[in-house]
Amino acid sequence: MKHFTDRVAAITGAGSGMGRSLALALAREGCHLALADRNAATLTETAKLARAAAPDRIGAPLTVTTCVLDVADREAMYAWADATVAAHGRVNLVFNNAGVALSSTIEGMEYADLEWIVGINFWGVVHGTKAFLPHLKAAGEGHIVNTSSVFGLFAQPGMSGYNATKYAVRGFTEALREELDLMRCGVSATCVHPGGIRTNIAQASRIAKNMVGFMIEDEQQGKDDFEKFFITSADDAARTILDGVRRNRRRVLIGRDARAADWLARSLPAAYQALVVWQTRRMRRIAQRHARGHALENEA
Ligand SMILES: NC(=O)c1ccc[n+]([C@@H]2O[C@H](COP(=O)([O-])OP(=O)(O)OC[C@H]3O[C@@H](n4cnc5c(N)ncnc54)[C@H](O)[C@@H]3O)[C@@H](O)[C@H]2O)c1
Repeated sequence: MKHFTDRVAAITGAGSGMGRSLALALAREGCHLALADRNAATLTETAKLARAAAPDRIGAPLTVTTCVLDVADREAMYAWADATVAAHGRVNLVFNNAGVALSSTIEGMEYADLEWIVGINFWGVVHGTKAFLPHLKAAGEGHIVNTSSVFGLFAQPGMSGYNATKYAVRGFTEALREELDLMRCGVSATCVHPGGIRTNIAQASRIAKNMVGFMIEDEQQGKDDFEKFFITSADDAARTILDGVRRNRRRVLIGRDARAADWLARSLPAAYQALVVWQTRRMRRIAQRHARGHALENEA
């Protein structure tokens, strides 16, 4: 798809971060929007910002619809896909972007937490892909954009649940692209691997108590330290994703951190793990020193 003007795009997780930035970037290009999120307030705000960002087009205002849904809910996703076509007449793009993060050891992980993240990060992408695919084919021109992560390229201790879902999204989307290429049906697919992007994902993440003393000193410090790796803005990430769709890329890496991680995982496909363990030990010692420093300051 070379341009997005007068196309219709559906975006999950549109209330924040990369979802919101994608909505605004597409609105600026005159793309109609069907926006979904589980957070009604932030979703409404994105819709308002998107309408304001749209170019002035006399007699043909941008259509922006919203739907509050949980992407893990299969029926809700199918209902939203149908409602999108009913409201907009067609749909050309779906961005399966909604996602959450979980930090936990495997040994201490609650099944409820694992089911929560798999429901959103993996099943959400499957539901969005399958619910929208027939409509994209019917439109004659379509693109599915599924968000994996740099953690779909290499594994990280304490992130097994997130790693599992993002590797799954990668495998699912690469197979999807191959099938769509074989079908020559006018629909394509791209798998997105962002590095650290400045969004709300760390603050919204679940951090299990078993991580305290294992890799972090307290929950807030864990979230704040995670954010130190967020080097790319959400707007720049959205630009890179849309550029990848225009070029019909199979895979989009976002940020120099993602490119470095990709190179490392391909150059040292097994040995990289030892480097990750070494780096994690080093960071744990730094976090412990900081925590001791704060404790001494508080005593003084
Ligand atoms: N920020 C990063 O560094 C980074 C890196 C790699 C991958 N990603 C991935 O990028 C995607 C977008 O995340 P972001 O960084 O913009 O985070 P974000 O937290 O800023 O935005 C995520 C949005 O998804 C929504 N959401 C969460 N669960 C939902 C559900 N069950 N149903 C519907 N909506 C739901 C949230 O309400 C929020 O609006 C995610 O898939 C994430 O895993 C992010």
